[in-house]
Amino acid sequence: MSPEKAASYIKSGMTVGLSGFSTGAPKVIPIEIVKPGKVKNLTVIQGAGVGLLKELAESGSVSRYAAFQWSREMHNSINSGNISFTDIHLGQLSSKLRNGVFGKMDYAIIECSGINEDGGIVPSISLGINNTLLDCAEKVLLEINLAVPAGIEGMHDIYKNDFKPLNGILERKGETVFRCDPEKIAGIVITDHLEPKINFRDTNEVYQDIARQVLTLLDKEIRANRLPRDFTLQAGVGGVANAVLQGLSEGGYRSLKMFTEVLADGALDFVKSGVITEASTTTLDLSPIGLETFFGNTEFYKKHIVLRPLEISNGVAQISAMGLVAMNTALEADIYGNINSTNAMGMKMLNGIGGSNDFCRSAKLSIFITPATAKNGAISSIVPMVSHVDSTEHDVDVIATEYGYADLRGKSPKERVKEIIENCVHPDYRQQLWDYYKGALELCGPCQTPHDLSKALSWHQRFIKTGSMKQF
Ligand code: COA
Repeated sequence: MSPEKAASYIKSGMTVGLSGFSTGAPKVIPIEIVKPGKVKNLTVIQGAGVGLLKELAESGSVSRYAAFQWSREMHNSINSGNISFTDIHLGQLSSKLRNGVFGKMDYAIIECSGINEDGGIVPSISLGINNTLLDCAEKVLLEINLAVPAGIEGMHDIYKNDFKPLNGILERKGETVFRCDPEKIAGIVITDHLEPKINFRDTNEVYQDIARQVLTLLDKEIRANRLPRDFTLQAGVGGVANAVLQGLSEGGYRSLKMFTEVLADGALDFVKSGVITEASTTTLDLSPIGLETFFGNTEFYKKHIVLRPLEISNGVAQISAMGLVAMNTALEADIYGNINSTNAMGMKMLNGIGGSNDFCRSAKLSIFITPATAKNGAISSIVPMVSHVDSTEHDVDVIATEYGYADLRGKSPKERVKEIIENCVHPDYRQQLWDYYKGALELCGPCQTPHDLSKALSWHQRFIKTGSMKQF
């Protein structure tokens, strides 16, 4: 049917699940749904939205959204109160949907690459929560995207979380297609739209320096026999992850493994060169060039990469069993090792917690990276107390900035303070942090976690008032 006809099934107030984990979102039906004057008050549930979000956020048709989102327009709609946003550990999203936490799912709109004669629905280039949406929704609309070549079939391993760890990254437990009762399928739309271009942040000197710190740490771990040389890595997309992989490649590392939620262009190159030999992800977050490379070599990549549903890629049973190194990004960290990844100044939502805590909590080695400052030095990323907590001190082994890394393992809060201030903080803020800590010690004595509660968030207040955290 036409996208217009498919969109006409969606009425105001409905809950709609969309496929897509960055890539693989439906390309035409949602755009029709949110055209001016059509519907209002929609709840949209999606694993991780990127491409469509501008249109959804600016339409005025969406009043609630979950889960991860990466778009300035969506940030603005959330932070101006127009869209209620539920931030949730992505690894828990499927089970919460199955338990009905988000209420009745009226429609699922799922991009796929084809339908087999036996009714198997061949996925596109991401899985996310698509299998859950197909299970939970009362009705389903499919978009078959002919821009995704048939050769992709066989790359997916789709099953409901059985909480039993995989024996290896390439082990397969499920089907290569989705199953859905044909009675539920209300319509099928054919498209041939390429993925919208994703603007990845280019690498820069600071990212390269952070990567060098992470590489020094990994080398040390391997020399101490705490990590095998062919260890398994989880990393988000972006400059630091790529620079770390580049460094590992130049350092002669081969046969590494990735168990992660996102693989980007860089990872394809490293699979090609043998730096990575086995990878599991829930999405291929590829640029147009990356897609061309991937679509031209699907048979090769199928031997090395498996796409799995989010409930498996981010499932704690799998992550714990992998004994992996998790590398995630913090907006800010505090002197005791607590991490804020989501709320700028404790108030303004950026993208959401995503899978960062799924991984750091269950990793063998959990690293958080952040540039030491933001906004041209006006913000110190290391503060007395984080203004919002996403990952607690208990889940953070190492914090790395361009100045060094703080190894927090086995250390008490007071021991962590020295490690973090001396190794991670920008020189402009070091003395200021020591002054805060010494004042806190004087005030409350050598308690477990010294704080001066009247000043703990004063750095944020100063930034809001004066535009800088610096104390002159
Ligand atoms: N306080 C307030 N604002 C800060 C800040 C801080 N401590 N640190 C950075 N910012 C601002 C930046 O200035 C920038 O603002 P701008 O867009 O107006 O310029 C914005 O926050 C984003 O910072 P940036 O350094 O560009 O971040 P990023 O693109 O590297 O993303 C996270 C960092 C933490 C937002 C991102 O990694 C994320 O969403 N993480 C959570 C999800 C996750 O980790 N998933 C796991 C695997 S994919």
